[in-house]
Amino acid sequence: MGREKAIILLIVALSTCFSVYGQEMITHPDEVTALEAIHGSLEDPMGYLRNWEKEKDPCTSWSFVHCLQNETEGYQHVQELRLMNLSLSGTLAPELGQLKYMEIL
Ligand SMILES: *[C@@H]1O[C@H](CO)[C@@H](O)[C@H](O)[C@H]1NC(C)=O
Ligand SMILES: *[C@@H]1O[C@H](CO)[C@@H](O)[C@H](O)[C@H]1NC(C)=O
Repeated sequence: MGREKAIILLIVALSTCFSVYGQEMITHPDEVTALEAIHGSLEDPMGYLRNWEKEKDPCTSWSFVHCLQNETEGYQHVQELRLMNLSLSGTLAPELGQLKYMEIL
């Protein structure tokens, strides 16, 4: 097998990866920033939000975050945060206002 053939195979493999990745849309970056601020201002004594990890995508990995997909944009938007019964305290960061698609809290 020649070097060119190997390169073509690599490109095919990479584009397959990207298309699979593309099916699971990520959270809009502004909303990720807002969620991180909200998380930072909350106290979570019971550890319910322990899977709110920075390196993971909120809409696809975090608990209690419910999103809707916008196929046109290719992003997910936070629609709902179901935090009411989680014994959280602290304040809600003003960044909440940046979650433009929120319906309920
Ligand atoms: C999806 O995004 C496009 C472009 O920003 C916008 O025009 C459209 O209203 C959005 N759709 C929904 C369902 O929010
Ligand atoms: C919060 O309420 C929801 C719906 O009533 C329930 O499914 C969930 O288990 C509750 N969570 C906790 C931590 O009690």
